[in-house]
This record gives sequence, structure tokens and C-alpha cells, in this order.
Amino acid sequence: MSNSDVLSEHISRQRETWLEEVNEWLRIPSVSTDPGRRDEMLAAAEWLVKKLDAAGCQETAVWPTEGHPVVFGAYKNAEDAPTILVYGHYDVQPEDPVEGWESPPFEPTVRDGRLFARGAVDDKGQLYVHVKALETWLATRGSCPVNILYLIEGEEEVGSPNVGKVVQEKIEKLACDAVVISDTTMFAPGLPSLCYGLRGMAYCQIDVSGPKGDLHSGSFGGAVVNPGEVLARLLASCRNAETGAVAIPGFYDDVVPLTPEERRDWQGLPFDEDAYKNDLGVAALSFDSDYSPLERLWGRPTFEVNGLLSGFTGTGSKTVLPATAMAKVSMRLVPNQDADKIMDALEAHLIECAPAGVSLEVTRMQGAPAWLAPRDHPVLLAAGRALERGFSAAPVYIREGGSIPLVSLLDELLGVPAVLMGLGLPDENAHAPNENLSLENFYGGVASAVYFHEELAKL
Ligand code: BES
Ligand code: MN
Ligand code: MN
Repeated sequence: MSNSDVLSEHISRQRETWLEEVNEWLRIPSVSTDPGRRDEMLAAAEWLVKKLDAAGCQETAVWPTEGHPVVFGAYKNAEDAPTILVYGHYDVQPEDPVEGWESPPFEPTVRDGRLFARGAVDDKGQLYVHVKALETWLATRGSCPVNILYLIEGEEEVGSPNVGKVVQEKIEKLACDAVVISDTTMFAPGLPSLCYGLRGMAYCQIDVSGPKGDLHSGSFGGAVVNPGEVLARLLASCRNAETGAVAIPGFYDDVVPLTPEERRDWQGLPFDEDAYKNDLGVAALSFDSDYSPLERLWGRPTFEVNGLLSGFTGTGSKTVLPATAMAKVSMRLVPNQDADKIMDALEAHLIECAPAGVSLEVTRMQGAPAWLAPRDHPVLLAAGRALERGFSAAPVYIREGGSIPLVSLLDELLGVPAVLMGLGLPDENAHAPNENLSLENFYGGVASAVYFHEELAKL
């Protein structure tokens, strides 16, 4: 039997066992933002350590941080061979709204070849591929052709506030030749994708307060400035309604224009605007006449309202002039934009526009730069060959609109290429009810990771 056959036979034989393992992990509600789930976070970290040990790591550890711990693992028996660092996250987003789930979020269920559970695709299920890839080598060949380090954090979904410090402290242990991440998506089913760019993030909360307390909207409306209305006006002022462009002064100052080459390449991707609208259940897309939807998603910065709160929102009606209004806002950044500078620009704009009679507070919550890598690095090309073998289709090169805060720091501190081998699909509902993972992509992902090790060792 050829080497590839032996490896893929192991993957086929282990399908059920691996699914059971993933299910066990997914049953642990590792919601990083929920202070009531600290024990579950630790349990999820310790579960992973056991599996890294079982897969064949010689060294594992749970590194404490000021927040949730970081899991480390190392297989280092491949002498004179390259070392890869697998980065991922074992924390998940909150499960709400629970009513939206067809099966409970922490009771993994398979339907139509997809595994439904919070964390299935983002990122527990997806990253587990790289644990099983090591197991596959050791179980079939007794050794792995590359050294593998695992750095799996528990705070990615809250902006990775603590892992950066750990990376700096442990930098010697983390020395490697490439970073590998499976925490993004494939452009379409059956179309493996290498992601070479992510947007950055500036996230903040805006609070507008007016009178000391809520007021009768008849007795006081007309005389008192309404914080709910002020907030609506402030948010609306952040976008030019005619052009669709963000209207915060200075917002685009540092944006590097997309190259004609990149725009042309993206035009070649199989994107169908009507199907996209149809899938989302919307009649029209937000607009910016100068840029196509993919360009707006991947290559342009945005201003988005993530949440709004003010006044009476229960059933029925109540006449009230609210004392306060609050919004959570994210601005996705592109390369060369600086999160602090963008938040300064937003704050200055809001202060400039806010009327007398209310006070305004902007609380900065998360900031991370964008990441963009060259598309022709030999390591990336090796990953492309591996994906082609694993999925029997040539990969496409894409960027993503989402953010992985640590990637640009890893790039900076380790100075090695990062390979983003996304195994998710665009309709897998990350962060939403009915999050799921295609099992075909999971098993194909293990095969691709195994082939990637082989391709890397050949370089
Ligand atoms: N896995 C995602 C990042 C992602 C999203 C990649 C969509 C590709 C497509 C990651 O877990 C995530 O959700 N990141 C957050 C970061 C934020 C909390 C700073 C995001 O993008 O909102
Ligand atoms: Mn993720
Ligand atoms: Mn996420």
C-alpha cells in the first residue's frame, strides 16, 4: 500500500471514534465571555491536554494567564525537519438566543453530514483536525515528518487580551518555521481555500446620557433632548447615505488601495450576488458603488452597529423619554490602519456632533490590526498542494472579513509565514444558532493536514 493509502485508511477507520471525541469536547460549554463558566473553560483546556498527550505530544502544559489559560503541546521527534505551530482557540461564543437552535447548543447532533453544536466550526471542531493529524502519523508510521507545536488559547472570542503576553514570555519555546491555523472558511463547498488576509478590529461601546432618570414623554418631550434620538443621529452620521462610505473624518486616511491584480483575481472567484442575497434572505446589499461585495468584505474597512439599547422595548407600549442610550460598534480595519487612531477619529467625530443636553462616553473594548501575507511563499504553495490532495480540487486564494487578533502579532514576533487553511463553510452559522461543521471537511481536513506535513518535509 502507498503511504497515502495507509494514512487515509487510518482516517476512515477512526471516523466514529474521532466524532465521539469531538462531541465530548463540544459538550463542555467553554464560553469565554461568561464569568460563570470559568470551571468549564478549565475543563475544556484540560480535556485538550489529555488528547494532545494521547496523540503523541512529548510535552504538554496549561499555561495560566490573567484570563483563561493557554494550552501548549509539543511533538519534537522529527530531527532536522521543519517545525510548525498550530494556533487555534478552545473558547466559543455564547449560545444565545437558545430558542433559535434546532438541537441544544451543547448536545452535539449530526444531521445531513453536519455536526451541530456551539464550537463545532469555531473553533474546537476545526482545530481538532490538527491533533488527529499527528495521531494519524504516529499510529500508522510511528513518527511524524515535522515537529508540531500547539498553542490553543481560551480568549480569542473576546479579542485575545492575554495570549500575546504568553507568546512573548515563551517565545523560545514557540520558535517555528510556519504557523498553521484552521479558523476560517472555504469559499464554497468542495473548494479548498487558503486565506492570506484578515481584517482588523476596533470595538467600542457608546453611551449617551441625558436627564437624571427616565421621563414621561408627554410631560417632557419637546423640552428635553432625547438620548435615544441623539444616539440614532450620531450612528447615522457615521455613514454617508448617498455614497455608502464611512463618514468619520480621517477614517480612510491610512487605507492602502487594493491592487488591480487582486481585484482581478477576486473577480475570477465563483461569487453569485443573487444567490448570496437569496441565502441571506435580503432583497438588496449595503452599497458602496466603487467596490464589489467581495472587495467591501475583504479589502475595505467598515463601521457596523452590533447592538442597540434604549428606552422601552418590551411588548405593548409605554410613553417614556429614556435617560440613556447605548450602542456597541465595531469597525473592521484593513492593512495599515491603526485601531487606536481609528477610535480617536470616531470619538472626535461623535464629540463634534453631539448636541448640548446630553453627555457622551466612548469605552474602547478591543483593538487588533489587520493581517495580509504574500501569496507566493513556498510554505503556502505546499499547503495548496496538500489541500488539493485532501479535497481533490485546486485551492483558491481568498481574504476574509473576520478577524483573528493574534495573527498579526505572531507574524511580527515569530517572523514566519502563517497558513490559514480554513475548513468552515460560509453557511455554518458561526456565532449564531445552529452552528455546524461539515464532517466531510473535518475528515478531508485531517488528510490535508497530514499531506501538508509531508509536503513541508519535502521542501
Ligand atoms: N474564526 C473567527 C474569525 C473569522 C470569522 C474568520 C469569519 C473567518 C471568517 C474568530 O473566532 C472570530 O470570531 N473573531 C472575532 C474577533 C473579535 C472578537 C476581535 C471576530 O472576527 O469578530
Ligand atoms: Mn474562530
Ligand atoms: Mn469566532
